[in-house]
Amino acid sequence: MTFGLFEDMAPCRAQREELCPGAVVLRSFARVNEDAVCEALWFITAEAPLRHMITPGGFRMSVAMTNCGSYGWVTDRTGYRYDQIDPESGKPWPRMPSAFFNLAQDAAVSAGFKDFEPDACLVNRYEAGARLSLHQDKDERDFSAPIVSVSLGLPAIFLWGGLRREDKAMRIPLMHGDVMVWGGPARLRYHGVLPVKEGYHPRTGPYRINLTFRKAR
Ligand code: SIN
Ligand code: FE2
Repeated sequence: MTFGLFEDMAPCRAQREELCPGAVVLRSFARVNEDAVCEALWFITAEAPLRHMITPGGFRMSVAMTNCGSYGWVTDRTGYRYDQIDPESGKPWPRMPSAFFNLAQDAAVSAGFKDFEPDACLVNRYEAGARLSLHQDKDERDFSAPIVSVSLGLPAIFLWGGLRREDKAMRIPLMHGDVMVWGGPARLRYHGVLPVKEGYHPRTGPYRINLTFRKAR
C-alpha cells in the first residue's frame, strides 16, 4: 500500500477556484498551519466563550459566535455593530493570534489583495442544523478591503449569491482547510450557509468552525 505515504504530506496550495471576478476558493489553504490555528482557537474560546447572540428582531442565532482582534462583531436587540469590548465579559476581545493574522494575509495575497490588515476576526461555530441566512457583510467602514473566510472541521454548503438578495445563489461545498476570499467587485455579494449536517471531525468534533477576517475600522 503506497497511498498512506502521502496522507501526512502538507497539502499543496495550488488549487484555486475563481467563482467570479474578485472571489476565489483556495482549497486546503489553511491546512499548512492548522495545528497552530486550531490551538489558538481554543485559547480564544476559553477567554471569550462562544455564545448564541440575539438578532435585532429578537431571534437567537443558531450559530454560536465569538471574536478576536481589536474589534468584534456583535448583534443584540439594538442592532449589529463592531465593538472593542466583549459585552459578556466587559473586557477587550482576545488579541488576534499571529497564526490567524498571517493566514488571512497570505490568503488575501494569493487571491490578489495586497496589504490586507484584518482588525477583526469573527469565530462562527455551527452545530448540526445551524445555518446562516443570505446576507451581505456591510457593517465595515471601508469596502476596499476583502473578506477572508476560513472553514475548519465539518463540511458545509456555502451559498454564493449576487449583489441582490433575489439573485440565484451558487452552492459551493467547503471542506476543512478551505479558504474563501472575496473583495473588489464581489465585496458586497450576498452569501450564507445551508444547515450543517451531523458528523464528527477529528479537529473540531461535532462542529464546523468558520473564521471570518475583516478590516472593520
Ligand atoms: C459569515 O458569512 O459570516 C460566515 C460564513 C461561513 O460560515 O462560511
Ligand atoms: Fe458574512
